Amino acid sequence: MKCWQRAAAAGFQIPKISDEAKQEKFPGTNCTVLNGKLVASLMATQCKTLAAGRKQPKLVAILAGEDPASKVYVSSKGKSFADVGFASETIHIPSSEATAEKLLATIDAANADASVSGILLQLPLPNGIDAGPITARIAQKKDVDGFLASNMGLLALGEFSNATVACTPFGVMALLAAYGIPLASKKMVVVGRSNIVGKPMALLGLSADATVVIAHSRTANLKEVCREADILVAAVGKLGIITKDFVKPGAVVIDVGIHRGADGKLAGDVTRDVYDVASAMSPVPGGVGPLTISMLTMNTAIAAWT
Ligand code: GUN
Repeated sequence: MKCWQRAAAAGFQIPKISDEAKQEKFPGTNCTVLNGKLVASLMATQCKTLAAGRKQPKLVAILAGEDPASKVYVSSKGKSFADVGFASETIHIPSSEATAEKLLATIDAANADASVSGILLQLPLPNGIDAGPITARIAQKKDVDGFLASNMGLLALGEFSNATVACTPFGVMALLAAYGIPLASKKMVVVGRSNIVGKPMALLGLSADATVVIAHSRTANLKEVCREADILVAAVGKLGIITKDFVKPGAVVIDVGIHRGADGKLAGDVTRDVYDVASAMSPVPGGVGPLTISMLTMNTAIAAWT
């Protein structure tokens, strides 16, 4: 897997789950559960093992404003870092003090601090602050989100020896690899064209020799386009938009969405009944989410160690 090049240089192996764990099915179906929590636990073990005798990786997470979801994400990132013995610090800038100048000064200080391996500017920023120029201030080596133009550019060029790969699509690649699901010559349809998920996901699929289609809100005949996918990645950000009739029987379905359903439970972009037709599917919660954090942890270790 080409995108694993820097991870391999830092000592990380592509996670592999056991044949026994691969037998886990959604109850009453023949659809394999792509268990992201399990793969994340394998990654956490690697982080702990590889850290022995090496510099302690440290993340600085910058949280501007009071967005409740962002607060939850940042605190769960901190907990995952603590679990593997890595350092993390959250710098919270309340809405009343959140200005572009303050954010830039905070990033400058973290860039200059040699004990900091990675910097994460939690998005979205409070209204009125343009994230582009603020994100761009992060040093390339400390951009553990992989959001900088330089890192996205290296990914587009397939120059993985120096690229930091965006965590969520990187996590999808790790999940597919852990289950031994090949991408070469397969048709991958990515629904969603965001800079954070859809675009880097498509480039990663391409790097693994998939035939990639990016579909989005203006795609004509979305259902038919999705039904051609061997591997369907739903990264739309709309609860339950991908239903059974969008899925070719036997396809592998990856759900990147995370929403609070009407019943108060977490749910994705994909409706649950898709497991009646898919051969394998990532659940929400417990699929891509835990791996996003794993890849952030790994990217921070890579930044510290290479
Ligand atoms: N907001 C939602 N997802 C992410 C992410 O992966 N990184 C950052 N920095 N902000 C986010």
